[in-house]
Amino acid sequence: METTARALVAPGKGILAADESTGTIEKRFKSVGATGTPETRRAYRELLFTAPGLGEFISGVILFDETARQKAGDGTTLIGTLQRQGIIPGIKVDVGAQAMAGFPGEKLTLGLDGLRERLAEYRELGARFTKWRAVITLGTDLPTDPCLRANAHGLACFAALSQEAGLVPLVEPEVLMDGDHPLACHAAVTQRMLRFVFDALAEHRVRLEAMLLKPNMVLPGQDCPQTASASEVAEATLQCMRRTVPAAVPGLVFLSGGQSDVRATENLNAMNRLGGAPWELGFSFGRALQDPALKAWSGLPGNVARAQQELLLRAKCNGAARSGTYTAAMEEG
Ligand code: 13P
Repeated sequence: METTARALVAPGKGILAADESTGTIEKRFKSVGATGTPETRRAYRELLFTAPGLGEFISGVILFDETARQKAGDGTTLIGTLQRQGIIPGIKVDVGAQAMAGFPGEKLTLGLDGLRERLAEYRELGARFTKWRAVITLGTDLPTDPCLRANAHGLACFAALSQEAGLVPLVEPEVLMDGDHPLACHAAVTQRMLRFVFDALAEHRVRLEAMLLKPNMVLPGQDCPQTASASEVAEATLQCMRRTVPAAVPGLVFLSGGQSDVRATENLNAMNRLGGAPWELGFSFGRALQDPALKAWSGLPGNVARAQQELLLRAKCNGAARSGTYTAAMEEG
């Protein structure tokens, strides 16, 4: 597991999150005029996974249950197409966030029932790492401590079960960027949540060396009138992480969280330029890797090659951001 964790944050590489649930991918498809069916979802994921040379910049891909059972056009399993590219397959194992009883406006991520059995099956299918996402909402008097504690507990139980099955857990406590809060407020809540998370991980005897943290970057809210530069985001994010994340964790793989693709790359690059962090500073982007490819594809088989080029460009730019060597000129291709 430690070898896998380190391979996922190997220099110049990062993770592609392609584990959108059926409902989420439906929304993304609709935005480009494509229809979501098992076949279009399969075709789209095949396009992503078979992009020539993807393995140069992508160390792992997170799959959704349906994808882990599908086959490419040539009969290879989609998991097999990743393995062929030297990419480690992973799987999302939570079953989503639901309204938390007694706590209006807050969510609790579910999925522990039957998880031990599901993990054994995913390992059999070829998965080597797992993901569980907790969703924390900012608002007036939100989040509450009980919501943070309950979500941290879920993450810790998931992580312990994953390690029991020999799978590296990606622990994802996402503090959303929705709202008009300033950066300092996002920093304070992220810090609070990470304290709950690492307390719970320690209580549940999770081996820090064999996990990765998938955190949000610290950002001003999407509707906040004040924006923040990449170096402000980098400094605030790393300060928050230094205060809360033990150095035994091999890597942080940031989610993009709805930032534009280029902003996410710039912010990751700025963090790596600062240097001196005790962990690898990597990525596990969904939208920030896929958006241009999804637009280029738009559901049409004739657009596959162009969509793959778009994915490769984002992967390459983020690969460079891993060493702080990304430049705007790279966007020209
Ligand atoms: P985004 O990078 O689009 O936030 O997705 C990452 C992810 O896996 C969310 O769970």
